[in-house]
Amino acid sequence: MKNKSLISINDFTKEEILRVLDLAGEFEQNPVQSILEGKVVATLFFEPSTRTRLSFESAVNRLGGKIIGFSDSASSSSTKGESLKDTIKTVSNYSDLIVIRHPIEGSARYAGEVAAVPVINAGDGANQHPTQTLLDLYSIRKTQQTLENLNLFIVGDLKYGRTVHSLLMAMAHFNATYHFISPKELRIPQEYKLFLDQHGLKYHEYTDFKDIISDADIIYVTRVQKERFSDPIEYEKTKNAYILKNSMLQGTKGNLRILHPLPRVNEISVDVDDNEKAYYFTQALNGVYTRQAIISLILGL
Ligand code: CP
Repeated sequence: MKNKSLISINDFTKEEILRVLDLAGEFEQNPVQSILEGKVVATLFFEPSTRTRLSFESAVNRLGGKIIGFSDSASSSSTKGESLKDTIKTVSNYSDLIVIRHPIEGSARYAGEVAAVPVINAGDGANQHPTQTLLDLYSIRKTQQTLENLNLFIVGDLKYGRTVHSLLMAMAHFNATYHFISPKELRIPQEYKLFLDQHGLKYHEYTDFKDIISDADIIYVTRVQKERFSDPIEYEKTKNAYILKNSMLQGTKGNLRILHPLPRVNEISVDVDDNEKAYYFTQALNGVYTRQAIISLILGL
C-alpha cells in the first residue's frame, strides 16, 4: 500500500481493507505516537466538511505530522483561474500526501494522475468517499464482531450519496444482503445494481421505511444531498422522505446499530441519540483511528 493513492474503495483489495481495519484497532488503543514526524499532509477541500477534514487533521496531529491546506477554495488561487492540475502539481512540492475533496466526479482520480505524491479522495461529487467507507467498515466490524453475511439497510439519498456507493462496493467482499430504501427519485443508480448482480449479491428495493427493519443488523441512514440537486423543487419534495424515530426501533434486533456518515439534517430524530443502538457519533470518532491507519500505510510507516 506504500505510495498507493486511494481514489476508489476498489483501489484496495479485501486483504488491504482488512489490514487498514486491524491497524485502526491498534491506533484506537494507542492514538498518540510520533511516527509522522517530519511529514507534511495537505488537505485541499474545495467543498465544505467538518468530520473528514478535521479527523484527517486530528489523525496527523496525533501522530506528530504537520498539516497544510485550505478548507475553503475561495481562499485558494483557483478563484484566480488556476487549474486543478497546476494546484496539485504545486502542492505536491509542499507535501508528502494530498487529501482532496472536490465537487466534480473524477477530480480525485485526475489529481492522483498528475500528483507527484499519493492522493486520498475525501469525496468527489456523488461518486466515492473511500475513507468514509473504511471507517464505516471499522464501525460495522466493531459493533457486529464480523463483516460477513450482514443485513444492511441503507436509507435516504442513494442516488447522490457517495458514502453509499463506496460502502456498497466494499461490503460486496463480505456477502452482505442489501436493502435499499429511498424515494423513487433517489433510487440506487443502475450501475450499482449491475455491480451487485455481477457479484451475485442479493438486494431489495423499497420506498417505505416502516415495518421492514426488524431483520436489520445495520441501518445506514443518509442525508438528502441538497448540494447535488439541479432543481430545488425536487429537493423540497424528497428532503423529509424518511425520519427515523426512536419508537420505530422497538422490536429490532439487539445487535442492530444505526450508522450515519453525518452531517444529519432531519433524517434521524434526536430522540434516537440516547438509544444504545445509535452509533453515529462513535462512528465519527472511529474516523480518526481509521485515517491514522490509512495515512501510515500509504506513507509506509
Ligand atoms: N461524513 C462526512 O463526509 O462528513 P463531512 O462532510 O463533515 O466531512
